[in-house]
Amino acid sequence: MKRCLPAWPGVSTDVDIPAAGISSAAPPDTLGRRMRDLRLSVTDRCNFRCAYCMPKEVFGRDHAFLPKTDILTFEELARLARIFAGLGMEKIRVTGGEPLLRRDLPALVEMLASIDGIKDLTLTTNGSALAAQALALRQAGLKRVTVSLDALDDATFRAMNDVDFPVACVMEGIDAALAAGFAPVKINMVVRRGVNEHEIVPMARRFRGPDYILRFIEFMDVGGTNAWRMDDVVPADEIIRAISRELPLEALPPNYAGEVAARFRHADGGGEIGVISSVTGPFCRDCTRARVSAEGKLFTCLFATHGHDLRALLRSTLDDAAIASAISAIWSARDDRYSEQRTPATARQGKVEMSKVGG
Ligand code: GTP
Ligand code: 5AD
Ligand code: SF4
Ligand code: SF4
Repeated sequence: MKRCLPAWPGVSTDVDIPAAGISSAAPPDTLGRRMRDLRLSVTDRCNFRCAYCMPKEVFGRDHAFLPKTDILTFEELARLARIFAGLGMEKIRVTGGEPLLRRDLPALVEMLASIDGIKDLTLTTNGSALAAQALALRQAGLKRVTVSLDALDDATFRAMNDVDFPVACVMEGIDAALAAGFAPVKINMVVRRGVNEHEIVPMARRFRGPDYILRFIEFMDVGGTNAWRMDDVVPADEIIRAISRELPLEALPPNYAGEVAARFRHADGGGEIGVISSVTGPFCRDCTRARVSAEGKLFTCLFATHGHDLRALLRSTLDDAAIASAISAIWSARDDRYSEQRTPATARQGKVEMSKVGG
C-alpha cells in the first residue's frame, strides 16, 4: 500500500507504508542479514576537502550544501534512532560530513545515549574540533571515538586534507579524547598508492600500544567524484606485509560477526591494528549496517544509488509504528552486496557521496 503523505517542499517519497503493527525486530533482509548498526549523519558539511571524499573541484566555494530546514533536527534524529532501536538496532555511529561542525552536538549525544536498547554509541570525526569537544562528548554519554588521520608527515597530511590543516591539531584532539577517557581511540587511515603509502609503517609505529587501534582502509570507489582507479588501491595484504617486515604481526579473530576490520596484534604485545579491505576482501555477507543522511534518507548500502526518504515520514502525521513498518519493509527487501559485485562499470556509476553518509 502506498499512502499519500503530506507534501513537503522539494521532497517526494518512494517509501511503501505497510499496515502498521506493533513494532518488533525488523525481519532479516533477502540475504538473511539483520539490521544492527545505524550510522546517522548529522551534517553534509566538512572543513576538510580530502580528494578521495570531497574534491575541491566538486565541493568548491559555490557548492550548495543542505539548507538548515532540510536537515533533521535533534528531535527528529532522536525519534528516528528510537524507532530503529525498537527494530533491533543496537549500535549508533554519529557521522557527517564532519559531525563536530553540527552545533551543540553533545546535546544530541545525550539524547541518543538515553535510548533503550542502544548498547554502543560512537562517533567518527576528522579530529579538527575534538580537542574542544572531547570532554563534553564523554560527559554526554558517548562511548567511543574514531578519528580519521591519513599521515603523520605534516606536508602529506596537509596535502591530503587539501585545506592545509596541520597534523598537530588532530593529535591534540586525539590526546584530548584519551584524557576524556575514550581509550582506546580508533584511528582510520585511508591508504592511496603513491600518496601516503610511505606513511603506513610510521603510523603503525606511532599508534602502538593500548591507547590506540589503528585501521588501514583500502581506497574505495564511493560516490561519483573521487576519480577512483584500482591502480590507486593498496591491497590490505600488501599493507600487512609492509608492516610485518618491520613490526611482526599475528592475526586475531573478529570481535563480532561482520566486523569490517580484519584484526592483527603486534607480536611483542604492542597492541592492535586492523585492515579494512572492502575492495580486495569484501565483507557484505554479514553487513548489518543502515545509513541515514543528514536530510533523512535511508541508504541500505554505502554504495547505494538512491535513498529512501524518511524525513517525509517523520514530518507527516504517521506515528512511530507506521514509520517502523516502513523501515522494516525497506530492510526486508534489501539485497545489497556492492563490494562483492564491483566491476569497472559499477565503479563509474553515480552513487551516494561518502560525505553524505559518513563512511
Ligand atoms: P567499530 O564500531 O569500531 O567496529 O567500527 P567499524 O570497524 O565498523 O569502523 P568504522 O565505522 O570506523 O568504519 C571504518 C571504515 O570502514 C569506514 O570509514 C568505511 O571506509 C569502511 N566501512 C565501514 N562500513 C562499511 C561497509 O558497510 N561497507 C564498506 N564497503 N565499507 C565500510
Ligand atoms: N575510501 C575509503 N575510505 C574513505 N573515507 C572517506 N572516503 C573514503 C574512500 N573513498 C573514510 C574517511 C573516514 C571515514 C568517514 O571514511 O577517511 O575515516
Ligand atoms: Fe571530511 Fe572525512 Fe570526507 Fe575528509 S573524509 S572530506 S574529513 S568527511
Ligand atoms: Fe554493506 Fe554495501 Fe558495504 Fe557490502 S558494500 S558491506 S552491502 S555497505
